[in-house]
Amino acid sequence: MDDFNYQSGALNAEDVPLAKIADAVGTPFYCYSQATIERQFRIFADALTGLDATVCFAVKANSNLAVLRTLAKLGAGADVVSGGELTRALAAGMPADKIVFSGVGKTDAEIEQALVAGIRSINAESEPELAAINRVAKRLGKTAIVTLRINPDVDAHTHAKITTGLNENKFGIEWTAAHRVIADARDLGNVRIVGLAVHIGSQITEYEPFREAFIRVRDLVAMLRADGVAITHLDLGGGLGVPYDGEDIPPPAEYGQIVRETVGDLGCRLAFEPGRLIVGNAGVLVTRVIYVKDGATRRFAIVDAAMNDLLRPALYDAKHEIVPVSATNEAPELVDVVGPVCETGDTFATQLALAPVKAGDLLAIRTAGAYGSVMSSTYNSRDLVPEVLVRGADFAVVRKRIGLQTFLDHEQFPDWMDR
Ligand code: LLP
Repeated sequence: MDDFNYQSGALNAEDVPLAKIADAVGTPFYCYSQATIERQFRIFADALTGLDATVCFAVKANSNLAVLRTLAKLGAGADVVSGGELTRALAAGMPADKIVFSGVGKTDAEIEQALVAGIRSINAESEPELAAINRVAKRLGKTAIVTLRINPDVDAHTHAKITTGLNENKFGIEWTAAHRVIADARDLGNVRIVGLAVHIGSQITEYEPFREAFIRVRDLVAMLRADGVAITHLDLGGGLGVPYDGEDIPPPAEYGQIVRETVGDLGCRLAFEPGRLIVGNAGVLVTRVIYVKDGATRRFAIVDAAMNDLLRPALYDAKHEIVPVSATNEAPELVDVVGPVCETGDTFATQLALAPVKAGDLLAIRTAGAYGSVMSSTYNSRDLVPEVLVRGADFAVVRKRIGLQTFLDHEQFPDWMDR
């Protein structure tokens, strides 16, 4: 359920016609619904009722400051994976003690930034990283609060490119080695390991893999505690999927039940890192048809958005629903929706049944709120498109278009060339 619905044949974001925003900001643009973001957050938080849980929104899914502030106001913290995301989370008003820092390749500078900010925990993913955290903390005269990310070797049954919890993936420390690593880390003077973290992948549409992973975590906690190691924090990651193309996905309440059944009685403070579930269906990418072209075997709607704006179809063969911004009753016909970039992979939909479109029509590419704008690039020297937030009958540009001139301003000719 989201807040992009037709009112008198016009697709609205909440109470604002998307066509009105298109007139104001130009196309393509991302549009987010504040009501949907808030509802999704509450659904997830409600699923965890009764648990000592902090929801640390995965900033990588959507890092717009206004989106982050919307979530901060609801009590969310952040899961960040770079110094840049940490800066954004803090700038949006997320409290440092609700921020966790994940990722396999944190640099010394990023570790320092996290320690200075005083975040809740750094999720360490390897022994060399633990050593680096210790070194940086020592230099700063601090003790780093760390959770150890374990790799549970559990198959999340999702796309290979977004599976993270298998032994062959680069993430975490193999769960069978965690005990030894924690024992060895006792000698590190400036690192305090307070818990375990786990994240098995993204766009997970069946929840049993979560249960498997959390049971691994529970068993490890029991083993560590038996050995006198105090484990007080667990970070259970994110990964809950959203329907893109009519998939049937269990409600988050079922996920909450799995958490309760597996680790609910361990007395740990829990952190969660959902990204897609919170913002996925809260965003659309609105684009205008430039041409309708009849090819040898099929019809193409060539639109002004491209793979640089929304990479998911090209990268993961993702299917995003595409709907007209002005509804008609005309019988659908088959069309390929493609962008202007010079690659065949720049295709949003193949043989889609859509009411006939013509040049100038607006289309909305749905469920684009997560991993949409954040993954965009300027490939083909295209702009970074505007982002718009809607609340009720109001809308605001929350990121302006970043045009070519900004990039040209950062390029220069070397001395030996004519100017
Ligand atoms: N925590 C960690 C450590 C992660 O690596 C991720 C996502 C999340 C949390 C959030 O996962 P979510 O709840 O959003 O599933 N670009 C891909 C998705 C990449 C996900 C990477 N890690 C896509 O567009 O499908």
